[in-house]
Amino acid sequence: MNANGFPHDDPQGPLFVTEHIPLEISEEEFDQIRRTLQDMRGFNLDAYKDKCVRRRIAIRIRATHCESAREYCHLLTSQAAEVDLLLKVLTIHVSQFFRNFSTFEKLRLEILPYLFTVARQEKLSGLKFWSLGCAGGEEPYSLALLLADHFSRDLERIPVTIEGTDVDASILDAARLGQYSQERMVELPPHYLQRYFTESNGQFTLIPSIRDMVHFRHGNIFHGDIYQRCDLVLCRNVLIYFAREQQENVIRNIARVLNPWGIMVLGKSETLLGESRSLFQTVCPVERIYRVTEPGRSAPAGGVIRDDSH
Ligand SMILES: C[S@@+](CC[C@H](N)C(=O)[O-])C[C@H]1O[C@@H](n2cnc3c(N)ncnc32)[C@H](O)[C@@H]1O
Repeated sequence: MNANGFPHDDPQGPLFVTEHIPLEISEEEFDQIRRTLQDMRGFNLDAYKDKCVRRRIAIRIRATHCESAREYCHLLTSQAAEVDLLLKVLTIHVSQFFRNFSTFEKLRLEILPYLFTVARQEKLSGLKFWSLGCAGGEEPYSLALLLADHFSRDLERIPVTIEGTDVDASILDAARLGQYSQERMVELPPHYLQRYFTESNGQFTLIPSIRDMVHFRHGNIFHGDIYQRCDLVLCRNVLIYFAREQQENVIRNIARVLNPWGIMVLGKSETLLGESRSLFQTVCPVERIYRVTEPGRSAPAGGVIRDDSH
């Protein structure tokens, strides 16, 4: 143990250690970890896939060089910093600008023109886009870049609010800075880099006019109060971590707050499950794009988007 009570020289230990050592976590230990996260951070582990959670706890056990799950439970209950590090590993933050570029092309060519058409026909005062599970901001900022680059004339008449929400408050602080390393840019078309970022010491910072287009809000996907009325929701690569029932709950909540013409985009390995399938019609199965269905109300005539699902 070091002076801080960590069984490791580094007070926090590296976040990830990749070596593979089989590790037993008993039900009792698992329950203690679950209660600690709930009591100290209000974080409900039950929503997450059991296997996935155990694998990630094991990662932290190894990273802190604890010799058993029991020793790790002791560390977790005595060191608040370790609670935050475990949460970081549980809520993995991998993201990129224009992640799955073809999805953003579909947004640029079909979905955003459709939403602006609806906004004009319905005489809306504005549109609201929401990135749910936005990590370091790459996803909502990608929407802002698309709008600035291709829809500036539409924006003059129809303002768009973009919001990013994540359960991890510290990642949102980083997102607000809008500063990124090159590895986050691999799918970003080069002209965006030249036009909308400044570079210093290998770090790329978004210009203020793009940063100002996105508002970040801390919130948990399982708390009903984070859901607010909107026209486009990107909920990509978040559901995969949750148990099936929780995935369906999230999708139901999204359907509830989308306007009747509203669009939802899931990650490439995510799909609609069970009863939630009846809440949406597929717009593009490849890009996992869906339009909410509302009995008795169809999309305005000029705003119909193609259904690629057949
Ligand atoms: C893999 S990232 C996906 C980022 C982005 N949507 C993308 O596709 O590139 C998953 C994000 O979901 C967030 N997340 C995990 N559990 C959450 C919860 N219960 N409520 C809100 N966000 C959550 C994580 O903190 C993480 O930033």
